[in-house]
Amino acid sequence: MYLIDGKEIAKKIRSEVKEEVKALKKKPHLLVIWVGNDLASQSYVTSKEKACKNVGIETTTLHLDEDTSQRELIQIIQEANQNSNIHAILVQMPLPNHMDERKVIDAIDPKKDVDGLHQVNQGKLMLNMPGIIPATPKGIMKLIDAYNVDLTGKNAIVIGRSMLVGKPIAILMLQRNATVTIAHSKTKNLSELTKQMDVIVSAVGKPKLITVDMVKEGAIVIDVGINRVLGTIVGDVDYLSVADKTSRITPVPGGVGPMTIACLLENVVECYRFLEDK
Ligand SMILES: NC(=O)c1ccc[n+]([C@@H]2O[C@H](COP(=O)([O-])OP(=O)(O)OC[C@H]3O[C@@H](n4cnc5c(N)ncnc54)[C@H](OP(=O)(O)O)[C@@H]3O)[C@@H](O)[C@H]2O)c1
Repeated sequence: MYLIDGKEIAKKIRSEVKEEVKALKKKPHLLVIWVGNDLASQSYVTSKEKACKNVGIETTTLHLDEDTSQRELIQIIQEANQNSNIHAILVQMPLPNHMDERKVIDAIDPKKDVDGLHQVNQGKLMLNMPGIIPATPKGIMKLIDAYNVDLTGKNAIVIGRSMLVGKPIAILMLQRNATVTIAHSKTKNLSELTKQMDVIVSAVGKPKLITVDMVKEGAIVIDVGINRVLGTIVGDVDYLSVADKTSRITPVPGGVGPMTIACLLENVVECYRFLEDK
């Protein structure tokens, strides 16, 4: 078994972004909008701010009350769209229940949509056109490339079908000629499927969803899940029993997570270039 060291690869990407930012005329500027008081969101926002600062990207965080109306939020986004000093906009999910996430995301200028969730960017991804790719699937593909994994003809399963992770990673692997199965909460006999797979990507959020009996000898396992269990972070994969059966596996933490942050930084610079390098 070889560990896929996301920490190391992410470090390299971060230092490349830092050099790139140094050479730009202006500092790229990311606006983070966080609505409500979700504790996990708070820690994600803090780590994004810190990562930006470390590579010279400016951030502004707007923390809005839980009872902010959708209309007010969309107005703030529209003002940021018009503000030429803001290059990228990130609305931290989840939003409070009274908001329609799709309407909020689609209010962002697609060129400033750093998370790649706007319908235009999701459509471009589907069509294999250049656009902003969500940071987590982008990071997973970079891990696959860093370890020279050729996906051509490989049987791959993506467990989870969110617009943030599951669907985009399935499309990206399909573009690399893998034969892709997408599983979700209504999938029957998940283990019968996973046992046949050369590559398993789990993006669910359930500890020990993937156990040793579900994995083929020599499979590549990418664990996207982040679960808090007894004060520690674990993935979806029962790592201790599964790891030895795999050819490559991402640990949690230290696998996909650091790549997500590194690719978010890359996306900020990409948004900057859309606006400044016209
Ligand atoms: N490492 C990182 O950087 C990173 C980044 C983003 C997310 N994450 C983590 O990745 C996980 C997924 O995130 P997300 O935003 O995609 O979550 P999400 O929107 O909640 O999607 C979860 C997906 O899992 C499916 N699912 C739920 N229970 C299942 C089961 N028993 N068997 C098979 N599929 C099942 C759901 O199916 P239905 O569609 O049928 O409901 C859904 O498609 C979470 O743990 C999240 O914290 C990590």
